[in-house]
Amino acid sequence: MKNTTKICCIGAGYVGGPTMSVIANQCPEIQVTVVDINENRINQWNDEDLDNLPVYEPGLKEIIATTRNKNLFFSTEVDKAIEEADIIFISVNTPTKTYGKGKGQAADLKYIELCARNIAKVAKTDKIVVEKSTLPVRTAGAIKSILENTGNGVNFEILSNPEFLAEGTAVDDLMNADRVLIGGDDTPSGQRAKDTLSAIYEHWLPKERILQTNVWSSELSKLVANAFLAQRVSSINSISALCERTDANVAEVSRAIGYDSRIGSKFLNSSVGFGGSCFQKDILNLVYIARSFGLQEVADYWEQVIIMNDYQKRRFAENIISTLYNTVSGKKIVFYGWAFKKDTNDTRESAAIYVADALLEERAEIVVYDPKVSEKTIYADLDYLNTRSPEENRRLLKVVKEPIKATEDAHAIAILTEWDEFKTYDWDKIHNNMLKPAFVFDGRRILDSETMKAKGFEFYKIGQS
Ligand SMILES: NC(=O)c1ccc[n+]([C@@H]2O[C@H](COP(=O)([O-])OP(=O)(O)OC[C@H]3O[C@@H](n4cnc5c(N)ncnc54)[C@H](O)[C@@H]3O)[C@@H](O)[C@H]2O)c1
Repeated sequence: MKNTTKICCIGAGYVGGPTMSVIANQCPEIQVTVVDINENRINQWNDEDLDNLPVYEPGLKEIIATTRNKNLFFSTEVDKAIEEADIIFISVNTPTKTYGKGKGQAADLKYIELCARNIAKVAKTDKIVVEKSTLPVRTAGAIKSILENTGNGVNFEILSNPEFLAEGTAVDDLMNADRVLIGGDDTPSGQRAKDTLSAIYEHWLPKERILQTNVWSSELSKLVANAFLAQRVSSINSISALCERTDANVAEVSRAIGYDSRIGSKFLNSSVGFGGSCFQKDILNLVYIARSFGLQEVADYWEQVIIMNDYQKRRFAENIISTLYNTVSGKKIVFYGWAFKKDTNDTRESAAIYVADALLEERAEIVVYDPKVSEKTIYADLDYLNTRSPEENRRLLKVVKEPIKATEDAHAIAILTEWDEFKTYDWDKIHNNMLKPAFVFDGRRILDSETMKAKGFEFYKIGQS
């Protein structure tokens, strides 16, 4: 790779932080600066105590320990980093719009546009601009138009390089990516830009795993990949409901179909529903795009994946209420887990939020324990729904740090995240602590039914009668 020594990444979030840490780690000759307008987040990335990083990912703090302030920098000086960089990654958030046209479905591109305008204003030398954020098809065109019409006459090459990492396994996914996708123009300068970006990944990945496509295919592929993954979860969750009414066991069905090499075994775990910042938003985006091209059947088809996921969360909450004799009012229900999956502190769209909201509507008293999620985040998640006042949320729901003590006089425990530590708890002690009958609702299928029943629990596991 020629002359590329400086990278800037705009957005120090769950994608920008880990991806740039891995690039810095694998490319010691490249200087990587991650910038963000959120000063608090940058301070956390720079915190001497690596347990205070804003993103928890296994293996991340070890990488940061060896690269930070050597060739990896976190800063709020956005303009300076843009000016100095040869390659600029845009890794800002692209949430679902909450206002105006496309509300509730389309991606809100205001942060992307702000970035593009800022790059145009500041750049004095040619740049490669890389879309790392997940964007609707044809966004690269919009970025290009802003850069070309408002810039200082310098040349910009726009590439799409969507990120496929999964939270909880981000470092491993980045180090051993199944593929890296680079979309760009088919012009000589577009090809040079694609090869320049490819050379970065070739530091640690075999060249044949780096796929080059046109920009639109790359943008669309990211949405489609998430839609297919989420569709598998919704498909198996729909079958879990059927299993609960029959003598079938969803784990056995998953195993039986997963052995078929045409189907494959991954993403066939039934659960209380998928969460995370991406699946729902990206499918809604796909639905919006399909509808905007008049493809009603295509839009309806993919929308069903979301409808099934909402049903699964609702079903879990309703089962708790009906099993607890149709009333949870004043009953203490302990939530094990709040994160949307294990090994992350991210709670965006976590099923726990919606299950809690449904139970709080029935006046349950919820006690939450999660090993990595802060009290502040949990209340912020609930307050965001606006179902009841912040005071009411704090009165009805408590956040604790001692998971076993939390079960004293509890009517029920609901497992919302599959944290490994839950499997190792002293469940006999927990049974002793609880009111009887002691109910456990396993929304992640991490505990063994026979063992739990033998300990005296009334045990309910998603996908089993
Ligand atoms: N989280 C995931 O697992 C994942 C995986 C693949 C792709 N993605 C995509 O990557 C993108 C980023 O996701 P994330 O989870 O990292 O989001 P995030 O919310 O964790 O981080 C985004 C950061 O961008 C910053 N930001 C916003 N506007 C800015 C601006 N103008 N200048 C500087 N900083 C700005 C915000 O302050 C925030 O810290 C999204 O498009 C998402 O769809 C996410």
